[in-house]
Amino acid sequence: MPVKTTAAKKAPKPSSEEKAPTKKVQKGEDSDKKVKASPELLRGFRDILPEEQGRWNFVRDTVRLVAEAYSFDRIDLPILERSDLFLRTIGKGTDIVEKEMYVFSDPSGRAVALRPEATASVARSYINHGMIDRPQPVKLWYEGPMFRHDRPQAGRYRQFHQVGFESFGVDEPIVDAQLIVLGVQIFRDLGLNVKVQINSIGTPECRHAYLAELVAYFRQHRSKLCEDDKRRLQKNPLRILDSKDEITLELLDGAPQILDWLDEKSKEHFMKVLEFIEEVEVPFELNPYLVRGLDYYSHTVFEFVLIEDDGGKSQNALGGGGRYDGLIGALGGRETPACGFALGVERIVRALAQAEIDPPQRPQPYVFFAQLGDAARRVGLRLFEEFRQAGIPVAEAFGKNALKAQLEAANKLGVELTLILGQKEVLDGTVIIRDMESGAQEIVDVKKVVQIVQKKLKSKEGVAPTTQSPVSDT
Ligand code: HAM
Repeated sequence: MPVKTTAAKKAPKPSSEEKAPTKKVQKGEDSDKKVKASPELLRGFRDILPEEQGRWNFVRDTVRLVAEAYSFDRIDLPILERSDLFLRTIGKGTDIVEKEMYVFSDPSGRAVALRPEATASVARSYINHGMIDRPQPVKLWYEGPMFRHDRPQAGRYRQFHQVGFESFGVDEPIVDAQLIVLGVQIFRDLGLNVKVQINSIGTPECRHAYLAELVAYFRQHRSKLCEDDKRRLQKNPLRILDSKDEITLELLDGAPQILDWLDEKSKEHFMKVLEFIEEVEVPFELNPYLVRGLDYYSHTVFEFVLIEDDGGKSQNALGGGGRYDGLIGALGGRETPACGFALGVERIVRALAQAEIDPPQRPQPYVFFAQLGDAARRVGLRLFEEFRQAGIPVAEAFGKNALKAQLEAANKLGVELTLILGQKEVLDGTVIIRDMESGAQEIVDVKKVVQIVQKKLKSKEGVAPTTQSPVSDT
């Protein structure tokens, strides 16, 4: 029996762009023709093309290095989970659960969801694997695709990628501070200028008292609110603070602020977090309206926003997170404090492109292998492997036949040496080494060529071959 959920029912109707491409086929027309309409991507989904991978790898590599430096262990989690995991954690009244989840029944009729975020999954995994019995804090990081049926626009996709960090088991403010510093460090290493927007939403108890006050305030102005904010006022009043509506924004000036409702312990926690991050000169801004779009937070909440060159105007958050001390308990685990954040990779890659920050160049290959004929190709395949094992990057153009075209490719790559192998050399068991700078050529024993090239490269100033993946110009 297919299971229907509220979220599935409320999913917006597909727009005309989203409908499957159809093509009218005349009666008797070959049914193959139906297939010929070019396939289209779903709206909000995108390919990450080879030419974009440089910046993507730059982000992934930077994140991995920072994660290792701060002793976070990697965790990989399923993309598909039981949908109730997200209903119970992110919260029923949130936009993500109400409108954006990809929920469907799997073939056995179970309600499942493509994960809209990964914190709930990490928390599930922490409980499932008894990580509470490990030395605390348990510090985990992850990367991967997330899915939200959001309205696509610049920097907002339906499949997007996050890298995330979660720390379980310690409720000290230093944990929140260190996570914020770690996040800022990633942006610094990438060359992006960010500031941290920060707030505290206290414990559920102080939030409860604050919400009563907030609702009373906005009820007086209910008639001025837009439909969305009227709905928020009823279902999830804290989200009113996040409204983009101009009238609500004006009303917010006179609204009660959550910081005034924090109990002593929450205040102390927050002050310490601020002191710590101030100490290490993290640029931050207190934002009393920052509440975040997920229900599981308590105490510190924060977002990383870009400081644009044009005088500090911020745009979409590049990442966000906070403390979520109640989440493990809400999922049935033993009460465990936790804190974390996630960054949106698409938004970071876009910011890098806008700031014209190029990823570090892939090291140039030092040697090019040029061949003439199939016998030479066969030897070439073996030689290529020998060079790779010796840690010398070799480029080739096995797909090209003419020597002239291959030498042109070698020139374009700016290699130091080209190895030339023709039929005669294959028969003689030799190979020609051509110095691309001087044009000098020498014939050497094919069995010794790796060794000879190694020596030549060592003697060339500033050339220190490292192991890396070979480049192909085929
Ligand atoms: P979030 O604020 O929903 O938090 O998402 C984190 C980041 O993911 C956002 O700041 C944004 O950069 C990116 N992002 C979100 N939605 C989209 C989208 N539709 N398209 C492109 N990028 C997007 C969380 O997901 C929490 N799990 C963070 C966290 C971890 N809290 C504690 N631990």
